[in-house]
Amino acid sequence: MSEYRNTPVENLTHDMARAELAALANEIRMHRDAYYVDDNPTLSDAEFDALERRNALIEQKFPKLIRDDSPSKYVGAKASTKFKKHTHHVPMLSLDNAFSKEDVTAFVDRARKFLGLDKAAPLPFTAEPKIDGLSLSITYLSGVLKTASTRGDGKEGEDVTANVLQIPEIPRTLHCENPPEEIEIRGEVYMDDEGFNELNQNQIAKGAQIYANARNAAAGSLRQIDAQVTATRPLKFFAYATGYETAPIAKTQMELIETLEKWGFKTNPLTKIFNDADGLVAHYNHIGELRENLGYEIDGVVYKVNELALQDRLGIVTRFPRWAIAHKFPAKPSKTKLLDIDIQIGRTGVLTPVARLEPVAVGGVMVSNATLHNEDYIHELDIRIGDTVFVQRAGDVIPQIIGIDKDLRPHDAAVFHFPHICPCPLKTVVSRITDKESGETEVAARCSGEYDCPHQKKRHLEHFVSRTAYDIDGLGPRQIEIFLEKGLISAPADIFRLKDKRNALEGLEGFGETSINNLLNAIEARRNIGLDRFIYALGVRHIGQTTSGLLARNFGSWDRFKQAVTDAANARPNDDFQRLSVIDGLGPVMRDKLLEASDKISPPDDLFGSDLLEVIRPVQGLNTKAKQALLAHFHDAKEFVEIVKSAANGKPKQAYIDFFSQDGMGEVATDALIEFFQSERAMSGLNDLLSEVIITEIVAAKQDTAIAGKTVVFTGTLQTLSREEAKQQAINLGAKVSGSVSAKTDYVVAGAEAGSKLTKAQSLGVKVLTEAEWVEMIRD
Ligand code: IVH
Repeated sequence: MSEYRNTPVENLTHDMARAELAALANEIRMHRDAYYVDDNPTLSDAEFDALERRNALIEQKFPKLIRDDSPSKYVGAKASTKFKKHTHHVPMLSLDNAFSKEDVTAFVDRARKFLGLDKAAPLPFTAEPKIDGLSLSITYLSGVLKTASTRGDGKEGEDVTANVLQIPEIPRTLHCENPPEEIEIRGEVYMDDEGFNELNQNQIAKGAQIYANARNAAAGSLRQIDAQVTATRPLKFFAYATGYETAPIAKTQMELIETLEKWGFKTNPLTKIFNDADGLVAHYNHIGELRENLGYEIDGVVYKVNELALQDRLGIVTRFPRWAIAHKFPAKPSKTKLLDIDIQIGRTGVLTPVARLEPVAVGGVMVSNATLHNEDYIHELDIRIGDTVFVQRAGDVIPQIIGIDKDLRPHDAAVFHFPHICPCPLKTVVSRITDKESGETEVAARCSGEYDCPHQKKRHLEHFVSRTAYDIDGLGPRQIEIFLEKGLISAPADIFRLKDKRNALEGLEGFGETSINNLLNAIEARRNIGLDRFIYALGVRHIGQTTSGLLARNFGSWDRFKQAVTDAANARPNDDFQRLSVIDGLGPVMRDKLLEASDKISPPDDLFGSDLLEVIRPVQGLNTKAKQALLAHFHDAKEFVEIVKSAANGKPKQAYIDFFSQDGMGEVATDALIEFFQSERAMSGLNDLLSEVIITEIVAAKQDTAIAGKTVVFTGTLQTLSREEAKQQAINLGAKVSGSVSAKTDYVVAGAEAGSKLTKAQSLGVKVLTEAEWVEMIRD
């Protein structure tokens, strides 16, 4: 961070402004790289917006100092016009992160389960250091280096061939007799500690920009316009993968590394094979011990399923391969003073306590706020205002307090009292809600104000424009705040009417003509929006990005989606049915037995001392546990009979069951959607929005397959595939996967020991396939 960062813009001198702009250009580029290129932001959106805004304000005051590489001149990390674009034949993926042994075990278990391996079957993984550099894909045609490209957004990178030809560690020709016609070799360009320090010394001597870290230095050095400059930079390269290839060169990751080594690449000598999570984590710890003395920067250990054929089967979930994960090293915690605790209100009304800290560097980033999670967390750690606390950034963006140094506790350290009244202007009584399914009280406290609560409204709008939702460039938390404050917007639809408020925008500080044009253009560009993003942007509880994508794929159009939710709402069980469903110890089978017998039970004759056991005597097949559960739950036999009779008339109907049985949905998410569509306020906001935007349909990925658009249910034990893998295949081929059989089901794939779903399919006349028939059907 620059030494002038805390100086207000109006107090900056010319020289200070120049230095600040240089520092900002560097920092913003770094954060954009982290955000766009690595999908691994180093700052919160708010912190990042603050940097961009400061840059804009300084440029406004000192227009002569605007740099050629000013962040105001480009967006994202990919839009650099310096280099030709290069489209990757095979996308360059990034990796999901693990931060604990539990995460690693979960990863190993997921892969094993997906592959349907039984306990005894080995599944070897490689473990290799995660090099802190930037990834590069190099194409060789008949063994000769043809092009080299950075990752960019994973689909399209920058052609840096001329620069890569200057890196001695990258062979221009493959040292092999029969090179494949075409092959992409992938790996990490990095700078070792010695090279990095030397480079910075030289930069200082020249009065040139110094690099914040080795990764930046490597990125900056590779992406020089003049390849001769790159030639002077000590860049190195570790190869670890292949991309597109006309012929496979290995069967396993280990073999691949060995082949690349023979072909003249440097590969990492710490790559080893292990059969389970224990082995992987032991190697991680070992590498952690070596880390200080390796001579180059690493930020974790990457685990990969060794067998390449299994990697193919495991495939990709959203952006990450299912066959690999990066086990990150924790950032070292920093110590600082807890100045105060504030309450922040989230989009769904959750009150989160936030620590205000004396600013401290954590993993290279200045931190002055950290999350304290919830009321219980503060009590468990006995955190008091005035304490000296340890702050850590655990890979994700939000720093957290992980402990306190009690020895340093001042005598006047104050206990924090969590508010029972929301600090929002509505002053709602905050409640800790009981979860419908688990029956547990939420740790989170909530304000019930919803859109009436200004904090929730603001968060809602922030969510609406965020990168994974509407993704409106130039409209972030900072702008939302200003527009709300000035009354320019109040609901999402208003964003699309900002174009009519140009005059008001022009009056705002920090909004010049160009930035207003850019903003309005960015808004117009989003008037057409895909159904998946639209559903996600609505911000319905429990409907995240993955679920939204799934719903969009399953229904294709907004109208069909809306109709399905409406149908599900009409088919929803009544309150009494739900009340019976959540009784601990009753369970769905016993519940249904009770409901089937609802005609046979009648209220007790006498008003006093009525015996529930007597009342349920006519019900066949209730077990003792269920009886006990009912006795514990109901104290009034008359009321019990009324509820059972009402519940029997209010059973869920098929449309509701179909909806929540969609693979990846569930009752809680379904109910949340139904409640959203039943809320008058949500509907009026939605209709207003629909008058401004156009939702584009989502077409199933593959239309020309035998099962595209069909609804498939898997049941029983499959032999050649795991259930998870079979589902994934079906989805990839454009099918919908459901967990329940109805008249709308097209195929039921029945494995061994298929039970009630098979029976139901037969009774409904739904086509039943054996596993072999299914495999045959999807073969071409
Ligand atoms: S494998 C699909 N192996 O980490 C997996 N990546 O967060 C492709 N990285 O973009 C990557 N060392 O730039 C792999 N030994 C290693 C790595 C490594 C560093 C980087 C790479 C990737 C990022 C993912």
